[in-house]
Parts: sequence; C-alpha cells; structure tokens
Amino acid sequence: QATSIPADRVPDMGKRQLLNLLLLGAVSLPTVGMLIPYTYFFVPPGSGGAGGGTIAKDALGNDVTLDGWLKTHGPGDRTLAQGLKGDPTYLVVENDKTLATYGINGVCTHLGCVVPWNAAENKFICPCHGSQYNNQGRVVRGPAPLSLALAHVDVDDGKVVFVPWVETDFRTGEDPWWA
Ligand code: FES
Repeated sequence: QATSIPADRVPDMGKRQLLNLLLLGAVSLPTVGMLIPYTYFFVPPGSGGAGGGTIAKDALGNDVTLDGWLKTHGPGDRTLAQGLKGDPTYLVVENDKTLATYGINGVCTHLGCVVPWNAAENKFICPCHGSQYNNQGRVVRGPAPLSLALAHVDVDDGKVVFVPWVETDFRTGEDPWWA
C-alpha cells in the first residue's frame, strides 16, 4: 500500500510555517485567556475604590450604579447581580423606590440551585426541590434548612457595593450561619 504523499501535496516551507503559526495561535489563545484571572489576582485589593467591598456587577458584567439601577428597576424589584465571591445576589428595590441596604444571596441553602424570584407569589421559589423563601429570603418551606444569606449593600461614589454581612440576621434574630 502506498504511503508516500504525492509530491504536489507535500506542504512547502511556507505552508508549514503557516500551519505552525495557526497551531501556535490555537494553543496560545487559551493560554492568554487563562492568564487574565491571574492578572486580576495580582491587582491589589481595594484598587477598585470599593473600600473593602465588592462592586456589584450586572448581567453584562458592568458595574452597577445606584442611579442606573433605580432607573431600570422599579419598586418591589428583585434582580440578580454578581455579589461577593461571585455569588448571584439579589438587589432589592424597596416600595419607596430606594435600594435596600441588604442583598439576598440567591444560592439555595438546600443543594445550591440559584433560586428565582417569583413576583406573583411574592416569594423566592427554588425550582430544584421546591424550597420557598419570603421576599427577604427567610426560609418558609423546606427542604432548605436555612434562610438565604445576606450581604450589606452600600453605595460608594455612585456605585453599588456589597460588603460581607457578619452581624445578626435581622430576619431571624440569630447569628449569621454564613459568616
Ligand atoms: Fe433548592 Fe433543593 S436546591 S430546594
């Protein structure tokens, strides 16, 4: 059986180099992508001007500003933003159109599904096993054993900032299980 490649199919040096370049490109692009998190890692904490907190990011990854958020989210709204440690965290617009000073971590305390807000029921209802939380994230039906975690919501230089909540859980009067 013939194993030799016809002479006219053998890549000349130019093609070979092109192929090598393409291969190199395919290998190095993901490498650059992987380096980016390291770059962020080495940016000193606090350089975002958030005073130790984490600036909330919207679904597109943009910083959340107080004005911008309240323009697009009406009274009673509960919409996810990216919170502490990247956890999906609800920003709450109070009925008087102000932003609540607490955010509600959307991760179900049962097995970790992200719990959607159900405006019609005025509850957070987990699609995975049916746990329910009231409009402040306090658990009202199992199997979830605990209420949704809280984070403080501050505003710094017009930007919405999450700060860890280490004080008493105002919904239960108990120590925070997540701190
Ligand atoms: Fe939410 Fe099980 S993960 S009820």
